[in-house]
Amino acid sequence: MINVKDVISALDISRSSVELILSEADSIKKELAEKRCLHIADDKIVMTVFLEPSTRTRLSFQYAAAYLGAKVLDFGATEMSSIQKGETFEDTIRMVDGYGPDVIVLRQSVQGNAKKAADIASAPLINAGDGANEHPTQALTDVFTIKQETGRVSGLTVGIMGDLKHGRTVSSLSYMLDKFEDNSVIYIAPEELQVKEEVTSKLTNLKYSKADMVENVMEGLDVLYVTRIQKERFTDQNEYERLKGSYVISRNFLQKFKRKPIIMHPLPRVDELISDVDSMKEAKYFEQARNGVYVRMALLKEVMGL
Ligand code: CP
Repeated sequence: MINVKDVISALDISRSSVELILSEADSIKKELAEKRCLHIADDKIVMTVFLEPSTRTRLSFQYAAAYLGAKVLDFGATEMSSIQKGETFEDTIRMVDGYGPDVIVLRQSVQGNAKKAADIASAPLINAGDGANEHPTQALTDVFTIKQETGRVSGLTVGIMGDLKHGRTVSSLSYMLDKFEDNSVIYIAPEELQVKEEVTSKLTNLKYSKADMVENVMEGLDVLYVTRIQKERFTDQNEYERLKGSYVISRNFLQKFKRKPIIMHPLPRVDELISDVDSMKEAKYFEQARNGVYVRMALLKEVMGL
């Protein structure tokens, strides 16, 4: 059984719950190769509320619920809701919860509002990304993919590169790797976009260092986790323009190294990861996105007590 009712932060999920979800996701992946639907949640309703744009998280949760047999109701575009008429976030959550979903999956842009919503709702609530804060289900997907590709979640050296200041996957993945032994992270970013102290101060076990040149650390990495420079979170667009081309991973760049890490990315990508990498055997990001369905099925199953 998972140790939390609401999934708000990767910090809150116990190591044994993470291991349970990884193991269940693995079984579900095999089962789903043979069946269209598991039919274990036919009387359940999963409500997805995405108040910030999403492709992967929204669709993978909706597919995950459908593959379990649950009905999926979606809040729809914010522009078509009464938020446009000035309805508060709190009242919106009260209404969503009041109709009786079995789980609410929420994405929105304000750090801390996932917790606020969970405190209002009686249904379990899953944080599908709260601003630049956290994205715990992405981190579960990330460690599932790392385990699938390397055979382990311990004893890894992971380079996390790009916009570490604004990227919510960075904090959640760090907290997830912190739960296991002998993991190291190298945070690769220009000083302006380096990992936040509020993230590193919460690490208890994970060894970490910082670098500004990816080429200097490539040979020691098991995983290179590339992230997008998050244009939408910059207050100064000139600063975004100055930093946006800081790192570019291309086939040409990767071919310089004899020992190559697997390449991961939470996606979407813009221009930090060139499409000529896609056909390389190290490119795992589309597989990572597909794995999101199995991991979210395992999580929904646990959160709904199935
Ligand atoms: N990785 C991720 O969260 O992608 P979306 O924003 O498309 O959901």
